Amino acid sequence: MQHAIQNNIHFTDYHPAPADFFAEVMEGLQQSPKAIAPKFFYDAQGSRLFDAICELAEYYPTRTEMQILSDHAEEIAGIIGEKSFVLEPGSGSSTKVRLLLNDLKPHTYMPMDISRQHLLDAAQTLAHEYPWLDIHAACADFTTPLMLPVQPQTLNKVAFFPGSSIGNFEPAAAQAFLTHLGETVGVGGGLLIGVDLKKDPELLHAAYNDSEGVTAEFNLNLLARINRELNADFDLDSFVHRAFYNRTLGRIEMHLVSRRQQQVAVAEETFQFHRGETIHTECSYKYSIREFQSLAAAAGFRAVKVWTDGEQLFSVHYLIYQG
Ligand SMILES: C[S@@+](CC[C@H](N)C(=O)[O-])C[C@H]1O[C@@H](n2cnc3c(N)ncnc32)[C@H](O)[C@@H]1O
Repeated sequence: MQHAIQNNIHFTDYHPAPADFFAEVMEGLQQSPKAIAPKFFYDAQGSRLFDAICELAEYYPTRTEMQILSDHAEEIAGIIGEKSFVLEPGSGSSTKVRLLLNDLKPHTYMPMDISRQHLLDAAQTLAHEYPWLDIHAACADFTTPLMLPVQPQTLNKVAFFPGSSIGNFEPAAAQAFLTHLGETVGVGGGLLIGVDLKKDPELLHAAYNDSEGVTAEFNLNLLARINRELNADFDLDSFVHRAFYNRTLGRIEMHLVSRRQQQVAVAEETFQFHRGETIHTECSYKYSIREFQSLAAAAGFRAVKVWTDGEQLFSVHYLIYQG
């Protein structure tokens, strides 16, 4: 299953079959309210659009987290120590890990993503820039059990989970996912994780409703992808992007709203939408430092250190799994 694609890159493909996408979309559209999991945003076009979101002036999380990582890279490397094995679930373009590589000099880096071609392109670019780095890329759904490549027992295992992707899980699922990461790195292993902080809802609103409409395009690409891959006939002009902060639940919600009464065919099935009906496509929970530390503690992690920016927009935590 694993094969070398060039000197310092190995690739393993656990890609979920198209049947999984089909089954989950059908199930999600039969629910009330309708919902489709955010992992399906990421085909090649979705990954490109996410990278474009990261460049937007309104989208503070990426640049803020990158500033924190670059300001503290030396300290982070000192805490993690030598001979590390860095696993990055949802690695995307592997942009953020570059901020750590020169100080950390890990033995092995394992980027893992559901978006296969994007992952391969990112791994190849990284291998070219860091020829000394051993890269084990895996195309996988990170919520499924993971097999790490055979490695020396002496390696210091660390999961790197930036981008506040933990906020995309419901809190109970977030706790279960953190435990899953803990079990993957083992007792004594580390977790370096970026978590978006609670803040003024206006800043949040602007970040998820950018003036150039890139986030709207990213959200609508889900329907375009369903049309392309699942023989569906969503009319993209009949749906509109909506994102808002749900203060009670402490989360951004992203939806696709039907602008009219309509019916949509997906393969042999037909789904009815009334005007204003939504498909819930993403949650992005925001956590105070304390809230996140107690979630991580419930998952078996001890907090070691937390870094934030001056405006308290974003946090980066280092924690150790205790089991
Ligand atoms: C919000 S982006 C974050 C990218 C990068 N880690 C960052 O911080 O900029 C989420 C990434 O995780 C990937 N992803 C989302 N759900 C996934 C899943 N269930 N399994 C594997 N990868 C997933 C996406 O393809 C995308 O690259």
